[in-house]
Amino acid sequence: MQKKLEIKVLPSLLAADMGRLEEACHRVEAAGADGLHVDIMDGHFVPNLSMGPDVVRMARRCTKTHLSVHLMVTHPQHFVEPFVNAGADTVLIHIEAQCDPATVLKDIRARGARAGITLNPETPAEAVHGVLGDLDEVLCMSVHPGFGGQGFIPQILPKIRELRARNPAVDISVDGGINADTGAQCAAQGANIFLAGTYLFRAADMAAEIAILRKRAQDAFTIGVRQ
Ligand code: DX5
Ligand code: ZN
Repeated sequence: MQKKLEIKVLPSLLAADMGRLEEACHRVEAAGADGLHVDIMDGHFVPNLSMGPDVVRMARRCTKTHLSVHLMVTHPQHFVEPFVNAGADTVLIHIEAQCDPATVLKDIRARGARAGITLNPETPAEAVHGVLGDLDEVLCMSVHPGFGGQGFIPQILPKIRELRARNPAVDISVDGGINADTGAQCAAQGANIFLAGTYLFRAADMAAEIAILRKRAQDAFTIGVRQ
């Protein structure tokens, strides 16, 4: 390992009460999360609509926490500027989107944000080989994007392992159906960032569940990467 990767847990705002988004931001910060994940859907790349830059601006106003913006949109190149201006610290685009991913990743970084590429469950690890020099994070979807509350797809686990074997220093995140059990399974393959909506927002005690997920992931990661 060239650098020590940190284990991070970020609740996904999609699972919050949409009428009380400010309260959700304060709850995430008070629970000791490592950031807040914000899902942006265009009704085209995925069959659903969600939020826009104004929600990110609102989150930026009410919390200092790291804002991770996941662009599930067909043309991410049009949205880097508005989301970074709104306060995004990380912008994640999809390798399946209609754009030149290397150019968009470079644009994200040039604007001062962390850049990430996302792979849908069926997309193989090789799809991102050409852009690995231009990014900070690889996000492996563990559900088909578009909706919260779906079941974890275990078939993506070998892909995490493959990505980690080739990229010891990059942050690898997982998104969809993540809880303490599935998070630990991903950590054992080399994932170090955990994005979780339903599990954390439905928890009676978000802080306790974040601590449990972080500890389970830390233990599994340490064992997994040594093998
Ligand atoms: C799915 C989104 C996820 C979603 C995860 O398209 O990208 O971030 O919020 O929700 P859960 O954790 O409920 O599967
Ligand atoms: Zn997401």
